[in-house]
Amino acid sequence: MNKTKLELTWIGKDKRPKLEPRILLEDPALSYHASQKVTENDIFENKLIFGDNLLALKSLEQEYIGKVKCISIDPPYNTGSAFEHYDDGLEHSIWLSLLKERLTILRSLLSLDGSIWISIDDNEMAYLKVLLDEVFGRSNFVATIVWEKRKTRENRRVFSFKHDFILVYAKSKPNFDISRNSLPLTDEIKARYKNPDGDQRGPWQSISALAQAGHGTKSQFYTLVTPSGRELDPPAGNCWRYTKDRMEKEIADNRIWFGKKGDNAPRIKKFLSESTDQGVTPETIWYADDVGTTDSARKHINEIFNKNLTFDTPKPEELISRIIHIATNQGELILDSFAGSGTTGAVAHKMGRRWIMVELGEHCHTHIIPRLKKVIDSEDQGGISKSLNWHGGGGFRYYKLAPSLLQKDQWDNWSLIKSITLKCWPKRSAN
Ligand SMILES: C[S@@+](CC[C@H](N)C(=O)[O-])C[C@H]1O[C@@H](n2cnc3c(N)ncnc32)[C@H](O)[C@@H]1O
Repeated sequence: MNKTKLELTWIGKDKRPKLEPRILLEDPALSYHASQKVTENDIFENKLIFGDNLLALKSLEQEYIGKVKCISIDPPYNTGSAFEHYDDGLEHSIWLSLLKERLTILRSLLSLDGSIWISIDDNEMAYLKVLLDEVFGRSNFVATIVWEKRKTRENRRVFSFKHDFILVYAKSKPNFDISRNSLPLTDEIKARYKNPDGDQRGPWQSISALAQAGHGTKSQFYTLVTPSGRELDPPAGNCWRYTKDRMEKEIADNRIWFGKKGDNAPRIKKFLSESTDQGVTPETIWYADDVGTTDSARKHINEIFNKNLTFDTPKPEELISRIIHIATNQGELILDSFAGSGTTGAVAHKMGRRWIMVELGEHCHTHIIPRLKKVIDSEDQGGISKSLNWHGGGGFRYYKLAPSLLQKDQWDNWSLIKSITLKCWPKRSAN
């Protein structure tokens, strides 16, 4: 049977720019590293690239294809706003074309167990989702996360928009599923564990001992006797989660809870001591209290720059740190090709991950470099620094794109620029 391929179309979708691969040139005067080693794990080979990200990504392809574990990007949302540091109002189809070209290269840079996390709001979210389905494949869609980006109400508007989305795709979902990390248990989650029967294994939470009948086998339908002597069958549409044999073993090991009087329906005890290593499965709503707001991120930028510099649309470090925690381990590589004020690099650095950032705007120099220097010198104690006990160290190299090696001749044909031609074909001696 022929499968119909559903694709988003727009004017200019097939007009693809011809990209001339450019070389990255380091400017050591703008690179920076700590004056001394702080720990054995200091990382120095991070890259900050100043320039358009399409050309920069193209130039990264050769060295980094299949090597990036996590891409976290926060492209302009196309809201029609003119922010202080960049414009955010492209014609819809141009925005889609720009994103498509970049996403295609970004995908090639991801490792097999890698993932991409893209912040977006309602303006383009639905279109971006369909575009991502096309570039990454629908089967590699992981989740749409809703981030509570503000806690206050905007009364002047018809609706007060409180959230952004983070779309998550994997290079290969089965590989991502087995490699992704759980979230650590928070104090709030730990407080939900109690120990009403004084179990020596410590506090526990209980979950239902029932499963859906459709998912059970014959051996999960039986009559169970409570410690008080009451006979219980699973209610209609249900079976027991465990087979009779397993249930008897669990009861003997005091892992089934029938309530204080031993007369209630059974529940399975889940011990905190046995779940600490695993952590908890990430959920898809990320609350401001856990991961910060746009406002808290702006305040952090103000602190870093003593209120001398602002940035309109920074992401909070706690938000990016959660992405990096789920998607990567120590020493792995993170890429952000829409760096803004440099949050992704700052967070990756503090978390002991390698990073590459690309930024086109002048704030690469006014914001990102000074911010990263403060991170390296341990002068930025805001954001996630305190929770990680961050003491500085490491460094980064600054690159810009080498000028084009091509020029148009008088007939409008592309050729190598003269200085290159002369070097390649030295003049013959006249004899
Ligand atoms: C929403 S901001 C990112 C903010 C960032 N997440 C932070 O925490 O500061 C988007 C950034 O993408 C940059 N940008 C837009 N188009 C770009 C391009 N073609 N190449 C490189 N950077 C680009 C803009 O200059 C802007 O700084």
